[in-house]
Amino acid sequence: MSRSVTILVGTTTGNAQYCAEEAAFRLKAAGGEVNIRQMDDLDATLFAEGGLYLVCISTYGQGDVPDNARGLYQSLVTAKPNLGGVRYGLISLGDTSHAQTFGFAGRRFDTQLTKLGAQRVGEVLTHDASSGTMPEEVTAAWITPWFALAVEGDATAA
Ligand SMILES: Cc1cc2nc3c(=O)[nH]c(=O)nc-3n(C[C@H](O)[C@H](O)[C@H](O)COP(=O)(O)O)c2cc1C
Repeated sequence: MSRSVTILVGTTTGNAQYCAEEAAFRLKAAGGEVNIRQMDDLDATLFAEGGLYLVCISTYGQGDVPDNARGLYQSLVTAKPNLGGVRYGLISLGDTSHAQTFGFAGRRFDTQLTKLGAQRVGEVLTHDASSGTMPEEVTAAWITPWFALAVEGDATAA
C-alpha cells in the first residue's frame, strides 16, 4: 500500500502554498511520503502513473484558475486522459466577497478530474479569506483525517 502523496499548488499570492506546506508537514508526521509541486509547467501527463494527489488551489480573476495553473487545467480539458488510477483530495481557496464565483477554480478542477475518471477522497476543504481563519489552520485540522480516509480506501481496494 502506497503512502505517497503528490501535492499540486495553484496560487497567486501564496495562501495555497501555505496550505501545501502545512499539509506536507502533517502528512509526513502521519507516515506519508510527500512531494510538493507547483503547477507551473505541468501538464496532464503528470497523472499518467496514477496515485494519490492533493490539489491546493485558489481562485482568481472572475472565477478563474491562477495563472500558474492554466497550463495544467487546459491540458486536462484538451488531452482528456483517462484518470482511472488517480485519487485526489482538494483544498479550494477563495473569498466570499466574490459571491458569484466563490471557489470556482477548485470547482473547475474537481469537475474536470471527476469527469476524467479520477476518484475524489473525502469532502473538499473550502477556505474563505473573509472568514477570519487562516488557510493553514483549517488545513491542519482537515489533513490527517483526509489521509486516514485515503489510506483506508487504498487498503480496501488492494
Ligand atoms: C484579483 C483577485 C480576484 C479574485 N477572484 C476570486 C474569485 O473569483 N472567487 C473567489 O472565490 N476568490 C477570489 N479571490 C480571492 C482569492 O482566491 C483568495 O484571496 C485566496 O486566499 C488567494 O489564495 P492564493 O494566495 O493561494 O492565491 C480573488 C482575489 C484577488 C486578489
